Amino acid sequence: MKITSAEFVMSNSDVAQCPNQPLPEYAFIGRSNVGKSSLINMLMQRKSLAKTSGRPGKTQLINHFLINKNWFLVDLPGYGYARVSKQSKKTFQKFITAYFEKRKQLVLGFVLIDSRHEPQPIDLEFMEWLGEQQIPFSIVFTKADKLKPNALKRNLEIYAAKMLETWEEMPMHFITSSSNNAGREELLDYIDQINQEMKEQQGLPFN
Ligand code: GTP
Ligand code: MG
Repeated sequence: MKITSAEFVMSNSDVAQCPNQPLPEYAFIGRSNVGKSSLINMLMQRKSLAKTSGRPGKTQLINHFLINKNWFLVDLPGYGYARVSKQSKKTFQKFITAYFEKRKQLVLGFVLIDSRHEPQPIDLEFMEWLGEQQIPFSIVFTKADKLKPNALKRNLEIYAAKMLETWEEMPMHFITSSSNNAGREELLDYIDQINQEMKEQQGLPFN
């Protein structure tokens, strides 16, 4: 997919206030600092469309971006960020949960996983929760540039083995790096393909 336009639309913490156009929407979620905002900038080839930071907890709201005037991309706050207060952690969790439960336009969540780490309970539990809610998701392994090819391959095998303890098959997944653009075309083509299929199915399910 060629990106012809990417515009920031709005930030908020209330799913009811999110844009109401009936456009397909894809949300990026994962632990703080996993690279959600960086990935969005890499996909859009824009330096600072989404705000990034070396300090976890940078993204604190639901951020909508309108892409090619026909789909939304959503940058979400990270879960599992220890430095924010317990109260604001709860508030985060509440509106992220509400977003996934209520957002009719949401087509698919991309769950970002740092490819350097072994499977973390918080990510596995979040994916199980998505499964229970019947919310489709794909996995995006991030920061692949930080590992040598063999170490990356081994980590992915460990991850797949862990997933297969719970899931019948390994979900669709992508290997990405915001530093060297790895995975960019694959991920954008995947979104494009879903958008096309939805169009062919005569309108969006949430119209
Ligand atoms: P929160 O908004 O705090 O939840 O974080 P986030 O998931 O949006 O992470 P962000 O994109 O802000 O990136 C966190 C840090 O990781 C930054 O210092 C990025 O430069 C770095 N980073 C992100 N992606 C990559 C990558 O693919 N490769 C490398 N080497 N660094 C990355
Ligand atoms: Mg962020």
